[in-house]
Amino acid sequence: MKSFYRVRIAGTGSYLPEKLLSNKDLEKMVETSDEWIRERTGIVNRHIASDNEATSDLALKASLKALEEAQISPKELDLILVATVSPDQIMPSTACELQAKLDARHCMAFDLSAACSGFLYGLSIANEFIATGRYKNILVVGAEVLHHFVDYTKRETCILFGDAAGAAVLTAAKDYEESCIYSHHMAANGTLADLLILPAGGSKMPCSEEVLKERLNYVRMKGREIFKHAVRTMTDRCQEALDANQMQLSDIDWIIPHQANTRIIEAVAKSLKAPLEKFIITIEDMGNTSAATIPVSFDMAIRDGRIQRGQNILMTAFGAGLTSGSVLMRY
Ligand code: UT7
Repeated sequence: MKSFYRVRIAGTGSYLPEKLLSNKDLEKMVETSDEWIRERTGIVNRHIASDNEATSDLALKASLKALEEAQISPKELDLILVATVSPDQIMPSTACELQAKLDARHCMAFDLSAACSGFLYGLSIANEFIATGRYKNILVVGAEVLHHFVDYTKRETCILFGDAAGAAVLTAAKDYEESCIYSHHMAANGTLADLLILPAGGSKMPCSEEVLKERLNYVRMKGREIFKHAVRTMTDRCQEALDANQMQLSDIDWIIPHQANTRIIEAVAKSLKAPLEKFIITIEDMGNTSAATIPVSFDMAIRDGRIQRGQNILMTAFGAGLTSGSVLMRY
């Protein structure tokens, strides 16, 4: 379908909870070592939400910063979209909780479940709503409080995840030569869903004593296989974006990948033949925060001055599902 309007990022924000969970802390919880975790993942610390912080609370803090930066009031929002796999509860959505906390008007609000690709899926949906002229201002959030869904007796997974939220406000681009989303490419492969799954708590396997006993209410992952798919799909989505825009890697100023493992990012860089210096890497101090890694990394790099207006940014993600995606924009 032909787009009528181009879409730009008007503002971003992020929030990381104060409490830290370090590799040293994890050494006391499971049989692991700081050295193993650093070498195999690149992670040193994760942020953990406090007991009275739900996903919508993290989302609120990131959203207020993004709205302030965009100079848009919550009342002007037409859609609030929260990408999360750790919602406040199954029903109602975290987006509706966020709408109430923001005191936004009665605009459309819903959650999006695409795991670690969720924020990019969200950007693609928001882009289309604005491109058709249906909506003017959209808030897209990636927010997670994952620590409740991680089994802290399983060293394969508990060392990876943290809590965080990142947000972006999207509006119609007045001068799209200066700043706009060029393309978005999303995909999924449900045949590989078992590789990364939180088995219980839904209609297929409701919560029960058996579930709790077998610890099926926590994330399960086939790490090595996920690793291979992650490298392949992120590389493919990046290449699709470059081809669709008739661009070369040399046209891209920054690549923002999903932050799951430094070695995955290094392998994507190698496979794209891109210098690692082009990649924004934040995993060391926050671990894998699923849908939040890209918006948080984006916001951090804008605020520390690495990302400047007018630069070309390529974002890429993969996650449970197995979902994957890329968004190419001039920021
Ligand atoms: O957002 C998407 C979510 N997930 C991911 O992206 C994860 C992708 N996968 C990975 O990042 C990596 O596969 C892991 C970090 C999860 C694991 O690293 P690996 O190099 O693939 O290790 P492995 O699973 O092949 O295990 C190697 C060894 C095993 O011991 P043996 O069988 O060789 O004796 C594991 O039991 O390392 C052991 N191991 C650990 N040792 C110390 C696994 N986890 C740990 C640990 N500390 N935390």
